[in-house]
Amino acid sequence: MNSSTITPENKLIAVRVRSLTIEAEGVRSIDLVPADGESLPPWTPGAHIEALLPGGLARHYSLFNGPEETDCYRIAVKLEPTSRGGSSALHDIAIGDTLQIRAPRNLFPLDAKAKRHVLVAGGIGITPILSMFRTLIAAGSSVSLHYFARSRGYAAFAAWLEQHPAAERIHCHFGLDEAATRTRMHDVFADQVVTATDALYVCGPTPLMELASTEALNAGWPSTAIYRESFGAPAVSEEQHETERSFEVVFQRSGKSCMVAPGQTIVAAAAHIGITFCTSCEQGFCGTCLTNVIEGELDHRDGYLTKAEQAKGDQMTPCISRCRSKRLVLDA
Ligand code: FES
Repeated sequence: MNSSTITPENKLIAVRVRSLTIEAEGVRSIDLVPADGESLPPWTPGAHIEALLPGGLARHYSLFNGPEETDCYRIAVKLEPTSRGGSSALHDIAIGDTLQIRAPRNLFPLDAKAKRHVLVAGGIGITPILSMFRTLIAAGSSVSLHYFARSRGYAAFAAWLEQHPAAERIHCHFGLDEAATRTRMHDVFADQVVTATDALYVCGPTPLMELASTEALNAGWPSTAIYRESFGAPAVSEEQHETERSFEVVFQRSGKSCMVAPGQTIVAAAAHIGITFCTSCEQGFCGTCLTNVIEGELDHRDGYLTKAEQAKGDQMTPCISRCRSKRLVLDA
């Protein structure tokens, strides 16, 4: 590794759009190369970059190419109908445009001790899974890939996967309704004999990740062998919105406190008294704002923490989650 290629994670990198490709209905891939011709920081499968977009938005995108492609970061972006500017900005981008990104971080790495890898992707969650699959195949590892999508037309990289030399390890589950998805996911894990050197990686919408995790746990997978990466927090229901109450937040380390009104986030309320959280998605799925909790009955609304982690009640994502009790004390 050339030390001159290493960039600190928080350093901004200017990249240029080299090419754009329609990968599926509403999904385009974007090849990003260094704007200044310098080399890009290295990365490992499962890593994502943070793209800084107009309006101060920051969005995370997993890299789907292989780390051996050192001249280019490749991301795929799904156009979200409810986009607040992130996905639509990247669907409006043109070849030759430049943007700022932060160097890759990996919160979803391959387990170096595992000898058999099972990959489960849902929708656009295929992106980090694809990078993992390429790397594991190249290394001669034992791997199987299960890809769920609402139809083949919405499944990015379907043709690439179907034509892959190791296509027998790839199982596409397209066009299933909810009940059929449950049955198929059960079948995926039902026949597997789990060993201590197996690892399961799941990436996609929260309901699919919950389903895969539940079926895996029921089939005898230890929770420590299940790795997840989320691309969205569960929707907040009307009832949750309507029953929101104001509560006090005490920031223990700074000695400050403030009230959080219904409809207001803890992050927004804290900003009024000069307390700034490090945030990125502001939708409860990236974990950037994760904060330790000292006291309070939490109303978790994120898709980042597992159900077990949420139940412990010692951490929360203040960009979206709230408090049911009148007082919340944070280690901040
Ligand atoms: Fe992403 Fe809070 S900023 S979870």
